[in-house]
Amino acid sequence: MTIKPLIILPDPVLRQVSKPIERVDTDLQRLSDDMLETMYDAPGIGLAAIQIGVPRRMLVIDLSKEGEEKQPLVFINPEIVSSSDDRSVYEEGCLSIPDYYAEVERPAKVTVKYLDREGKEESVEADGLLATCLQHEIDHLNGVLFIDHISRLKREMVIKKFTKAAKSKVL
Ligand code: NI
Repeated sequence: MTIKPLIILPDPVLRQVSKPIERVDTDLQRLSDDMLETMYDAPGIGLAAIQIGVPRRMLVIDLSKEGEEKQPLVFINPEIVSSSDDRSVYEEGCLSIPDYYAEVERPAKVTVKYLDREGKEESVEADGLLATCLQHEIDHLNGVLFIDHISRLKREMVIKKFTKAAKSKVL
């Protein structure tokens, strides 16, 4: 397993729409292992393939707490098939937007259809943190970031800050 470099805001790669996965094979499983390794190293609780520069519809999540046994989840071609009318608010962060957090309101429950790491069709009715995390990561597959769900003023401030930081690194 390999820890991959993370793509950071404002890299335009993050705005790409990821393509569906046609075959679940050992290369793809290896990619999912690298994604988990990268996520654990960061550390984070969710990661989409595009965040390591691979525009494929796959994401990994692990909501286990520190000290608990790991519970890695792999979602291939995930699709939200229904979402609740009731909404919940979580403070979100993103490995591609380090050290920035903001409250985001989303549907409290979602049903997600996907293929697991073996390529088997599955579906999950998620609520709580898993529901929020799935929506955040599926957004990534569509080139959407959590800052797109906050006020325009806040979003512009964050983008400006990260653009400045990226420029100073280049120079
Ligand atoms: Ni994210």
